[in-house]
Amino acid sequence: MKSKALIELLSDGKIHSGESLAAKLGVSRTAIWKQIRRAMGEGAEIVTIRGRGYRLVSRIDLLDCASVLAEISSDYKKQIELTVLEEVDSTNAEVVRQFSAGSVGFPVVIADCQTSGRGRRGRVWQSPRGENLYLSMGLTFHGGFGVLDGLSLVLGVAVVNALERLGMSEVGLKWPNDIFHRDGKLGGILVELQGELEEGVVQVVAGIGLNVHMSQAEGVGQPWSSLAKACPGVDWSRNQIGGAIIEAVLEAVSVFSDLGFRDFKDPWQRRDIFNEKLVRARGGEVEGVGCGIDDAGNYLVRTADGIIPVRAGEISLRVTQ
Ligand code: BTN
Repeated sequence: MKSKALIELLSDGKIHSGESLAAKLGVSRTAIWKQIRRAMGEGAEIVTIRGRGYRLVSRIDLLDCASVLAEISSDYKKQIELTVLEEVDSTNAEVVRQFSAGSVGFPVVIADCQTSGRGRRGRVWQSPRGENLYLSMGLTFHGGFGVLDGLSLVLGVAVVNALERLGMSEVGLKWPNDIFHRDGKLGGILVELQGELEEGVVQVVAGIGLNVHMSQAEGVGQPWSSLAKACPGVDWSRNQIGGAIIEAVLEAVSVFSDLGFRDFKDPWQRRDIFNEKLVRARGGEVEGVGCGIDDAGNYLVRTADGIIPVRAGEISLRVTQ
């Protein structure tokens, strides 16, 4: 948001005169008026109170690097390089650029909006300004691509852990890692593998999109939810959620790097939204009852021909006629 300094001053919800805002920001009253107009054009709800000044009607959840870092414990904070942007094509693409520029450690990028947000399977990820969390983390693993089996599911477990620590309940996972609340998709994770750097060193970009304040959406082709819809009483802060997710992902990745997928199988299965439900996979070629995952993280479907592991593609609920 271009008028961020102005919004920060107004964010206490009190009335501020044009004169006091101008003095605090070191600009003219006319410049303040123009900034108010621009902020309103960007979606801020500001009312003018005649003879007294301006007031922000609803709180704006601004992103702020220091506030995200304040949520992360010092050991993990040391390991990351956090960038918070007003706008970017895709936070995943930005992490790739940072990796290419030689970033070491864990580059992490959060943006207020994305102009080319990417979803799984080539889909577009709607990324309106100021509404949701768009967060990508660059992760480095040793041992070649083989050590990444199950990583995608581990990231799903980490995001659910973070949301539960923030007080959410009834958060589920749809294989491999869609985040669900009741029947609506709350978020998704796009895992993109970079090449092998040197013998056995692989870089991965984990992009997490989580609906936070969104109350309406165009072009989302499936039932969706947001934290605000799921828990309307909570004053959700994207800085706090971002910090909690970064911490939970780093925690999970550290266990995964040491011990592999083993410790994540049960935590994933506890959140399986398709457990004991009629499902279909491989475009309808496999139909049966969802029964969790195997040791490698493949989804298991109990069919008339036995249990079939599904390694790729989508699992969906089977609609009975
Ligand atoms: C999905 O299709 O379910 C995965 C969506 C992943 C979206 C996130 S938003 C942050 C990161 N940047 C992107 O362009 N995509 C991921």
